[in-house]
Amino acid sequence: MNTFEAIRERRAVKHFDPSHEFTKQETDQLLDLAMQAPSSFNIQHWRLVNVTDKTLRANLREAANNQAQVTEASLLFVVTVDIKAWEKDPARYWVNAPKEAQDILVPWIHPFYSGKDQLQRDEAMRSAGIMLQTMMLSAKAMGYDYCPIVESGS
Ligand SMILES: Cc1cc2nc3c(=O)[nH]c(=O)nc-3n(C[C@H](O)[C@H](O)[C@H](O)COP(=O)(O)O)c2cc1C
Repeated sequence: MNTFEAIRERRAVKHFDPSHEFTKQETDQLLDLAMQAPSSFNIQHWRLVNVTDKTLRANLREAANNQAQVTEASLLFVVTVDIKAWEKDPARYWVNAPKEAQDILVPWIHPFYSGKDQLQRDEAMRSAGIMLQTMMLSAKAMGYDYCPIVESGS
């Protein structure tokens, strides 16, 4: 499947085959593809929780308006972000880059985010959103469907 097809054929699917299981190789492939997404300053703010426990899944389903996908899907990732990832040893995000790039970008990170709470949150959300779209299209290209689910926190 090419990229155009994956974009056009992706849908937020409501029911999945609960008996289907992802292999570890497929899970690793999906995560590896999703991790190719861009992120601001390469900070990769996303922190994914792969929920396999059935009781936890049932609880999460309840919290998500009893949506069937939460317990039926072969994989369930809870997506969180580290809004403060920018200040946690940021040199590590550039460790594989040429020294010239490290020397410019790493010292730029702290003044860019320091004291700007809204910007820190926006950047984490933007990066997570782009990663999720990358994951959804990757899943489609692997022959799988996907559904983003929102939980209102109430
Ligand atoms: C942030 C976000 C939250 C969403 N939450 C849900 C959800 O809780 N349940 C659901 O079935 N679809 C959810 N969706 C899917 C949208 O309803 C869906 O993408 C939209 O109606 C367009 O349909 P399509 O993706 O099948 O083309 C969500 C999508 C996004 C981007």
